[in-house]
Amino acid sequence: MAESGRHPFLQGLSKHRGAPPTVVVIFGASGDLTARKLLPAVYNLSHDNLLPADFHLVGFGRKAMADAEFRALAEAAVKEFSRREPDPEVWARVAARTSYVAGGYDEPAAYQRLAAQLAELERELGRDLQRIFYVSTPPSVFAAIIEQLGACGLAAIHRDTPLHSKVIIEKPFGKDLASAVALNAAIRGVFAEQQVYRIDHYLGKETVQDLLVQRFANAIFEPLWNRNFIASVQITVAEEVGVGSRGGYYEQSGCLRDMLQNHTMQLLALTAMEPPGSLAPEAIRDEKVKVLNAIQPLAVGPGGEVARAQYAAGMVAGRPVPGYLQEEGIAPASATETYAALRLSINNWRWQGVPFYLRSGKRLARRVSEIAVNFRRPPGTLFAGETSRFDLAANTLAFQIQPDEGLSLILNTKIPGLETRTQPVKMSFRYATTFGSNTAEAYERLVLDAIIGDGTLFIRGDETEASWRLYTPVLESWRAAGREGMDTYPAGSWGPASADALLAGAQHRWRQP
Ligand code: NDP
Ligand code: BG6
Repeated sequence: MAESGRHPFLQGLSKHRGAPPTVVVIFGASGDLTARKLLPAVYNLSHDNLLPADFHLVGFGRKAMADAEFRALAEAAVKEFSRREPDPEVWARVAARTSYVAGGYDEPAAYQRLAAQLAELERELGRDLQRIFYVSTPPSVFAAIIEQLGACGLAAIHRDTPLHSKVIIEKPFGKDLASAVALNAAIRGVFAEQQVYRIDHYLGKETVQDLLVQRFANAIFEPLWNRNFIASVQITVAEEVGVGSRGGYYEQSGCLRDMLQNHTMQLLALTAMEPPGSLAPEAIRDEKVKVLNAIQPLAVGPGGEVARAQYAAGMVAGRPVPGYLQEEGIAPASATETYAALRLSINNWRWQGVPFYLRSGKRLARRVSEIAVNFRRPPGTLFAGETSRFDLAANTLAFQIQPDEGLSLILNTKIPGLETRTQPVKMSFRYATTFGSNTAEAYERLVLDAIIGDGTLFIRGDETEASWRLYTPVLESWRAAGREGMDTYPAGSWGPASADALLAGAQHRWRQP
């Protein structure tokens, strides 16, 4: 069997998916993301024979390192973080094509050295390589890298055939609308939009991609997917972890910028968008932008549509943990939120009057990301009155994004017996049960998609601006208010009371996922 030994997910997938000969240059090559996600992704793609035969990797960073030192660092990272035990033969293949260039991110001479190294590589191979520049540095140097890539000709060299150079940019993409617009302008001064791949790793998650399949490959959902049948939608992205050692970054960011502006909004866009005309990247992204633009501005302040809070000391997984203000690198009077919740209204034909509740936070009771679609209740004529016999719940369709990926539907059912009594039951589908576990990580899919030129799972410039347009006034108002209006919640809980209040007016409650 030609495909023996391949994971079931890979069987039937054409090897390389048409990937052209490629060199990936990682800026920030000694960093945390490179070690934990990017190098393991490259390794696993290579393991699954999905990389082009001519695939090369170049690390770039300020840290002075010989090629051998970078290879050793990369090998250690793959050993520690790869989802599968590395096969020495596969790693040797990757390592043989891995090198390193040291230099400053704004140092023109360093880019000349990089350009010379890439030219030498192409000369040795006797062919051009597609050049992918992966910007995995702190955002403070994103613009400098873009500018230098333009100035030294690396971005423009194959401008007439855009497939030949691409840039992948990490998050956060800006810190507000003005900075996102400026970054988009800097990028567009150097690259054409189809060369640009703005990462949101949530889009690389299997279950997030499955949203489109569930919505549009099944006939039963679409007729119900609107204000006539849906009472509310709740999107939860909850983390058990605290801020850890990332206090420096997090203090400047906070939950709204770190999670809601990007990951959670992408979940909302895929849930709420209109059916795209095709699966072409632009068709899907056009629909996402339309629905993001239809969201109404948020009311901030007492009785408004947003809540923010910081975790206080509490218990997580049976052990005591400190509050946010006691964490390393956090200002004692910090006004940075570790939790945010919102009530959004989408003013279009499909969704008018249906509240979308979004929440995300660190140090919550459990790590879970889900989208719960709550349906309206049927007319209460038949099974009403006798609450002791008729325990009825609203139907809820919940997409569990992670962990324990799956889909569940809450239905009301008759309890077996001689009289009619009802009880809500959960019908579940679990990915791991049906398809097995150890599936490709988000970054594998995203790196491969960038190589083959599929931008579907990346964010377009106007999408990120639409999202910032919604959130920037909220951030400005919070900045002006300082700590006033900042709620707290015990670590290990489901969040603050002010978040419950957002739902109370409609007699809704947060689900306990
Ligand atoms: P790091 O802090 O590890 O930085 C990456 C590399 O950039 C460092 O190894 C360092 O390399 C260089 N660097 C660090 N600080 C600076 C600075 N102030 N100025 C210039 N260069 C600097 O970042 P991460 O790897 O954690 O993150 C990279 C990007 O990915 C960020 O944009 C982050 O927001 C994003 N991201 C990270 C995630 C993660 O889990 N780590 C998750 C999602 C997104 P050298 O000194 O050799 O130049
Ligand atoms: C990152 C955030 O984008 O996503 C982190 O910066 C967060 O703060 C992480 O922990 C969560 O990603 P995942 O894939 O673990 O849900």
